[in-house]
Amino acid sequence: MESNKKEMPKHIGIIMDGNGRWATKRGLPRTYGHKEGVKRVLDIVREAYRLEIPFLSLYAFSTENWKRPKKEIDNLMILLQRFLVKYIEELEENGVKLNIMGDISALDGKTRELVELALERTSKGTKMVLNIGLNYGGQDEILKAVADIAHCVKEGQIDPNSIDKSLFESFLYTKCQPPLDLLIRPSGELRVSNFMLYQMAYSEFWFSNVLWPDFDEAVFNEAIEDYRSRDRRFGGL
Ligand code: FPP
Repeated sequence: MESNKKEMPKHIGIIMDGNGRWATKRGLPRTYGHKEGVKRVLDIVREAYRLEIPFLSLYAFSTENWKRPKKEIDNLMILLQRFLVKYIEELEENGVKLNIMGDISALDGKTRELVELALERTSKGTKMVLNIGLNYGGQDEILKAVADIAHCVKEGQIDPNSIDKSLFESFLYTKCQPPLDLLIRPSGELRVSNFMLYQMAYSEFWFSNVLWPDFDEAVFNEAIEDYRSRDRRFGGL
C-alpha cells in the first residue's frame, strides 16, 4: 500500500524510555541519560510542529516514578524546570499549547510555579498541543474522571442517564482532543506502563530498541511512515 496516500497521525504519544540504560552503557551516572533525553524532547517537539502534528503526548514522570531515589527525582524536576525556562518562548512563538496530564499539586513549589507559568504563557497556542504526563497514571486519570462525574451527579449537575463516551472524555486530561493514533515506545520494552489507557483504545503501537537519548528525527519519521502504511479498521472490515 502506498504510504503517501495515508493520513498523518493526528495524535502521537511517546513513552520516553531508556535514559538510564543509555548512560549506564557509557559508564555515566543515570542523570546524564536524562539530560541527553531532554535534548531529544526538544528535537522531537520541533519535528512534530514541523510536520504539523496537532497533538503530541510525552510521558515525563509517572505516578510510579516516585519510587525512584530522591536524588534522581530532584534531578528530573530540575531538568524540567530548565527546559521550561529555556524553551517556553520558542514553544509560544511556534503556537504550541502546553497541557499537563497528571496531578501537579504533588510537585515541589518551584517546579509547579514554572509549570503554571508555562501553561499560562502558551494558553493561546493553536498549532499544536503538547501534553506532558507529569505525576501521571492512566488508571488515576480514569478514577479521577469517575470521582468527578460522581460528584457532579450528587450535586445534580449531571443526569446519570446522560453519561456517554463524549461526557466521560470531557473529564479526562485530554478533554477536546482526538484519541491517540500512534503510541511509540523506544528502549525495547513491550508494555504500556499505565500511559493513556483510555485514549489508546485503537492506537497503533510502534516499538523500537533505540534508547530515548538516541531517538532522533529519523526514527520518529520511521515510526510515522510505518503508521501511515497500516490499515486501520477500528473493529470494522
Ligand atoms: C525513562 O528512562 C525516562 C524517564 C522516567 C524520564 C523521562 C524524562 C525526560 C526525558 C525528561 C523530562 C523532561 C521534559 C522536558 C519533558 P529510564 O530512566 O526509566 O531509563 P531506564 O529504563 O534505562 O532505566
